[in-house]
Amino acid sequence: MKMILAIETSCDDTSVAIIKNGKTILSNVLSSQIKSHQAYGGVVPELASRLHAEKINYLIDKALNDAAVTFQDITACAVTVGPGLEGALLVGVSVAKVIASSLNIPLIPVNHIHGHIYAHLADHSLECPFLSLIVSGGHTQLIHVPQHDSFDIIGKTRDDAAGEVFDKVARALGLGYPGGPIIEKTAQTGDATRFKFTIPMKHDGLDFSFSGLKTAVIQLIKSLEQTDEPLPIADICASFQKVVADTLVIKTMRAFETISAQRLIVGGGVIANTYITTALADACKKRGIDYIPIPRQLCTDNAAMIGLAAYCLPTYYQNLQPIRVNSGLPL
Ligand code: KG4
Ligand code: ZN
Repeated sequence: MKMILAIETSCDDTSVAIIKNGKTILSNVLSSQIKSHQAYGGVVPELASRLHAEKINYLIDKALNDAAVTFQDITACAVTVGPGLEGALLVGVSVAKVIASSLNIPLIPVNHIHGHIYAHLADHSLECPFLSLIVSGGHTQLIHVPQHDSFDIIGKTRDDAAGEVFDKVARALGLGYPGGPIIEKTAQTGDATRFKFTIPMKHDGLDFSFSGLKTAVIQLIKSLEQTDEPLPIADICASFQKVVADTLVIKTMRAFETISAQRLIVGGGVIANTYITTALADACKKRGIDYIPIPRQLCTDNAAMIGLAAYCLPTYYQNLQPIRVNSGLPL
């Protein structure tokens, strides 16, 4: 039996999970730092590192307890080594090194993006080939996976990630941090057709570019603020969310024209957005593409996805010793 203890500290969530035989999540505990960063309107790297250091030991104990296992049952330790905030990653990696060396078990360094992809392994298998769309606060990527441990990035953002733009637009609207969930909720009562934003790079390849859209939305907000009318926040949120969804659908469907895979797997915080996943699922249905949904709690950062990736890609990670944080780990 394989029992992986996994640690994720790449950004503002401290998380520890216990994964049994690469499929079953026995525990997946998480401490979100959102409240501490909210006052600053975004993640403060030094604060993130300190909070990870404060919480990690407690979370390891809790993950073991919740899973009803002890350190002696653990056969490998997996940890996110990048991409992410350097100081934040270092906390997880240091703790993982201590665990692995004191228990004399393998230490598996995991790429955070692999985690978002292999979160899909929870309770089922993930057959290749597939196309993976990962949309988070730091990444917007289309990755073709013809076989496990072969990752071909066929589309990526040339500037801001989609999640980052959700956060910046929410900030401009005074809605708080993180922007994604607040914009999704506010958009529910809005008219998505009220403001017409241009789809970025609509006719142009598989890459994304969201910074022009961010500027357009912020400029619209500023110009509306000059009028006496109340700011139509819900309509702005709905119109912005629609253009992000349309962009993701157009690029993803175009990507399927270039590969033989007929299966879409999705991941990353923005995929927690039901409007966006409904648009993606509908587009896939129309084209006979198999859309694989993922539970909301496995979209945003968590340690279970790191343990699942570590289990699925053992040979891939074998060659990556010694561990270096944010060392330009290949996908
Ligand atoms: O994957 P994640 O938890 O962390 C990174 O690896 O970046 O993604 C966080 C991002 C944030 O930008 C957040 O605003 C966005 O995901 N997000 C959402 C939603 N929930 C989280 N964006 C749109 N709609 C949501 N419901
Ligand atoms: Zn992430």
